[in-house]
Amino acid sequence: MTGANSGVGLETSKQLIKQGAHVIMACRRVDAGTQVAKAFDDFKGSYEVMKVDFGDLQSVRDFTENYKKKYDRIDGLMCNAGALFSGDEAQYTKDGIEMSIGVSYFGHFLLTELLLDLLKKSAPSRVGILSSVGHAGNSKNRYKVHLEDINWKNRKYNGVDAYCEAKVAVNLYAMELGERLKGTGVSTASVHPGWARSNFGGSGMMIKVLRVFLYPFRNSITNSNEESAQTSLHVLLSDDAPNHSGAYFSQHSVLYRDKECKKGGWPMISPNPNVKDKVAAQQLVELSRKMVAL
Ligand SMILES: NC(=O)c1ccc[n+]([C@@H]2O[C@H](COP(=O)([O-])OP(=O)(O)OC[C@H]3O[C@@H](n4cnc5c(N)ncnc54)[C@H](OP(=O)(O)O)[C@@H]3O)[C@@H](O)[C@H]2O)c1
Repeated sequence: MTGANSGVGLETSKQLIKQGAHVIMACRRVDAGTQVAKAFDDFKGSYEVMKVDFGDLQSVRDFTENYKKKYDRIDGLMCNAGALFSGDEAQYTKDGIEMSIGVSYFGHFLLTELLLDLLKKSAPSRVGILSSVGHAGNSKNRYKVHLEDINWKNRKYNGVDAYCEAKVAVNLYAMELGERLKGTGVSTASVHPGWARSNFGGSGMMIKVLRVFLYPFRNSITNSNEESAQTSLHVLLSDDAPNHSGAYFSQHSVLYRDKECKKGGWPMISPNPNVKDKVAAQQLVELSRKMVAL
């Protein structure tokens, strides 16, 4: 479980450990992970907190090397870490990749590809990757991945657009990997957790104001982390999820911009045709291999 120290990743880890699983809580801040995981000490299952920073590809390589030294199997990989970098100035990872797509997609692409041998050896096994309903955009603006300008060097940067494009990449990768792994016993899925009451969005002034303003309505328009974790748990544990390898699974909400997304679904068909473009998915994976030096 990546991004396991907070929000949806923390809650999903908690539920799994409660049910008896051994969860590797892969966190950028090991101290934060260790602190929150103390609450799981008396659970039936167990955990280990390990370090990984998706803003640094070497950290991802180090994580997989350490993992493989200790473990010879992996039943479920949940690529959960992600963040929205609001504003009109792009930030970049250590490797020079725009931060939203670097963390949500490229770092997890490298992680997953480096763990594929173990996932296949451990089959039946599963891979889930956190997307967002934001990937859908709306009927006038369907997001797509700009393969010719992944790093926003030739476009005016907008943090929300960058986040939504990053999540298109996530959906495309889940679909491509699902196709590629057909017959191996490894299934994949992309996941929208809902509008989770997590730490998502950071602590900027705008977010603080929004939180205060929305506070009276929060229970009716957002999901608790426990509710949000259900989508990831469904993808990891349900008997049915592997029958839909590569699909997109989504929580519902009355507030989504595209009404087609409001009901959610396990799985659901995204209204964005760009996440079903198999050619774009293959081109993305080819480019990704070059960008992460695989
Ligand atoms: N909340 C929502 O409404 C919502 C909606 C749609 C999709 N999502 C997606 O759901 C996933 C979980 O988000 P959340 O809502 O649980 O938010 P959250 O509470 O902010 O948790 C995000 C987790 O990702 C980790 N992370 C961020 N950057 C990282 C990096 N460079 N390397 C390693 N870990 C990193 C964070 O670590 P730190 O604590 O160290 O920052 C944290 O553990 C994300 O992929 C997000 O895009 C959330």
